[in-house]
Amino acid sequence: MGSLQLSSIRKAFGDHEVLKGIDLDVKEGEFVIFVGPSGCGKSTLLRVIAGLEDASSGSIRIDGQEVATVPPAKRGIAMVFQSYALYPHLTVKDNMGLGLKQAGTPKPEIEQRVAKASSMLSLDPYLARRPAELSGGQRQRVAIGRAIVREPSLFLFDEPLSNLDAALRVQTRLEIARLHRRLKATMIYVTHDQVEAMTLADKIVVLNAGAIEQIGSPMDLYNKPANIFVAGFIGSPQMNFIPAEKLGEAGAQGAVKTIGIRPEHIALSRESGDWKGKVIHAEHLGADTILYLETETADLVTVRLFGEHRYAADDIVFATPDKASIHRFDANDRAIA
Ligand SMILES: Nc1ncnc2c1ncn2[C@@H]1O[C@H](COP(=O)(O)OP(=O)(O)OP(=O)(O)O)[C@@H](O)[C@H]1O
Ligand SMILES: [Mg+2]
Repeated sequence: MGSLQLSSIRKAFGDHEVLKGIDLDVKEGEFVIFVGPSGCGKSTLLRVIAGLEDASSGSIRIDGQEVATVPPAKRGIAMVFQSYALYPHLTVKDNMGLGLKQAGTPKPEIEQRVAKASSMLSLDPYLARRPAELSGGQRQRVAIGRAIVREPSLFLFDEPLSNLDAALRVQTRLEIARLHRRLKATMIYVTHDQVEAMTLADKIVVLNAGAIEQIGSPMDLYNKPANIFVAGFIGSPQMNFIPAEKLGEAGAQGAVKTIGIRPEHIALSRESGDWKGKVIHAEHLGADTILYLETETADLVTVRLFGEHRYAADDIVFATPDKASIHRFDANDRAIA
């Protein structure tokens, strides 16, 4: 239960086409993450899958059944939004059970399902409270609980953690990963946060301007980005892109237009190396040191060193890219294998 096939999904608002032919295959139990810049169509795609928005054309099949004419409530889907919109006058328990009550589920079954979800999400101590008496993270867990009690085969999450502070995001992220393992349900999850995408996903879908740029496992996208857009979007700090012509013969081979090298794949030395440069800014993060260099050959280059290194602004250094980790792109920004 919970497999999903999208074929040639298009969606236009007036003459503005927001989804430009989306094909996607999600297997039962998979954790799929949509990433992409603001406005690229992530929420619209989720809403189309949920049935809250009609596609202009294309087909949506859940467990092999075409659902275009199936109303949202009958699709076996539960959606968790960024703004969790709990009912302020209802307790946690009643907020979680409301959907079941409205669907006419018998009371003992509601009790049992809410109790199970509450224990899974560690919400037992808060069941009698109202949303105003909870922290943001607790409220978000109630919103997730409200989805779980419906026992959907497909969960849709639209940036569920973006209102939480950094520590709580990490904690809730772990809870969602655990929940996915326990429920074995299919999950589709939208996020801006690449750490969330890299750590939770079986499969990441990179969207750009209403179209899919690449689909792959987190490590596929990191190691083998299909084009400059994906290469620049996955990984932080961003990959360095250097016009091949700047590197002379070493770079300008055949169709190679741009060279890409990730900041963590560059070695630094005070004595010698491929690119001479000056440190223009150093970020000492403790676990990492990020250096921004102005180089003669490759312009601005970002370097990420593991651990603490005593480089400072104005130091003269030499950067050497790891040859095996270089990415090559053609004039159309496509990766050259
Ligand atoms: N109801 C609507 N009417 C007209 N245009 C809309 C409507 N909903 C969304 N859009 C437009 O569709 C595009 C995609 O919006 P969408 O909300 O799917 O983006 P998103 O990828 O979720 O962005 P974000 O990361 O900012 O949430 C945007 O240009 C948006 O303005
Ligand atoms: Mg959105």
